[in-house]
Amino acid sequence: MKKIAVFTSGGDSPGMNACVRAVVRTAIYKGLDVYGIYRGYEGMIEGDIKKLYSHSVSNIIQRGGTILKSARSMEFKTPEGRKQAYDNLVANGIEGIVAIGGDGTFTGAKIFQEEYGIPTVGCPGTIDNDLYGTDYTIGFDTAVNTALEAIDKIRDTAAAHDRIFFIEVMGRDAGFIAVDCGIGGGAEFVMVPETKTDLNKVVKSMKNLRKNKSSSIVVVAEGDDEGNAEVIMNKVKERIKDENKDFKVTTLGHIQRGGSPTARDRVLGSLCGMAAVEGLLDGKMNCMAGVMNQQIVYTPFADCIGKEKLLSNEHLKLMEILSI
Ligand code: F6P
Repeated sequence: MKKIAVFTSGGDSPGMNACVRAVVRTAIYKGLDVYGIYRGYEGMIEGDIKKLYSHSVSNIIQRGGTILKSARSMEFKTPEGRKQAYDNLVANGIEGIVAIGGDGTFTGAKIFQEEYGIPTVGCPGTIDNDLYGTDYTIGFDTAVNTALEAIDKIRDTAAAHDRIFFIEVMGRDAGFIAVDCGIGGGAEFVMVPETKTDLNKVVKSMKNLRKNKSSSIVVVAEGDDEGNAEVIMNKVKERIKDENKDFKVTTLGHIQRGGSPTARDRVLGSLCGMAAVEGLLDGKMNCMAGVMNQQIVYTPFADCIGKEKLLSNEHLKLMEILSI
C-alpha cells in the first residue's frame, strides 16, 4: 500500500482535526502518500480529493470542526453514487481509506468496501458516544463539557427565580451525553431514549420539591421516548397544574458540536488516527480502530453499527441516588 486517503463524514465532532492530523503524519512517517477527501462521501463522488502534507495539518489540533469538512450524503446511498466514488479513488491511485465518523459513516464504508474491496479502517468521530468497540468516541468529552458549562449557568438563573428548567442536549438515539450532563450538572432528572421515561415520577417529585429547593434541572436527550424537552415540559406542566411553578426550556443544540477539543479528545483522536493507518498497513479492513481499557482495539464495522453500546447501570443508579 502506497497511497491512502482520509475523510470526515456525518456530524462533525471536536477532535476530528486531531485525528486527521494523526492520520496524515502517521502515513508520512510510514512512507505513504496521503490524500484528503473533502466533504465526506459527497467529495468522494465529486472527486474533491487533494494531496496532504505534514504542513497541511499544522496548527489544527486545537480547532473544532473539521478541516476536511463534512456532509451527510444521500447520493452515496445509491449504487451509481458509490460507483462514481470508486472511479475517483481509482483515478487517484488510492489503495486504502481512513473513514472518520459515526454509525452512518461506517454503514456506508462497510457497503462500499464489500462492493469494491478498497480496505477501509474507521475512527470513531461522533459526539454521541454510541459506537460499540470503543469506550469513548472522539468529541464526546468536549460536547459534555460544553453542555455542562451551559447547565451550570442555567442553574444560577434557575435558582435565582425558583424555576424548573428542561434542558435539551443532543442524542437522537443515545443518552450518553444526557447521563454525563445529568450527573455532572447535578440534575434532578435525566431522560434518555434507552429507558422508558416515567412522567408520573417526575410530576410527583416536582409537586413535592423540598421547601428549600424550589428550582430544578431536568436534562432531556433530544430523542427521549416522551418527546423533546419542549414536549415533555408541556406534559409535566399540564399535569402539575400549579400557577406558582415557573417552567422554562433551553435547547443547547449545535453549540455542543463546536469548540476547542478537550485534552482527552485530542489524545483519543490522535491515537485512533495513528491506529487506523497502522491497521491498514497491517492488512486490517472493514473495521474501526477504537480504544478500550487504554488499549487500541479493532472492531468489525458490522459490530460497531450492529451491536448496541449500553448505558452503564452504575451511571443510571448514581443519577437516581444523587437526585433525592
Ligand atoms: O450524530 C451527532 C449529532 O450531533 C446527534 O447528536 C444529533 O442528533 C445530530 O447529529 C444532528 O445532526 P445535524 O447537525 O445534521 O442536524
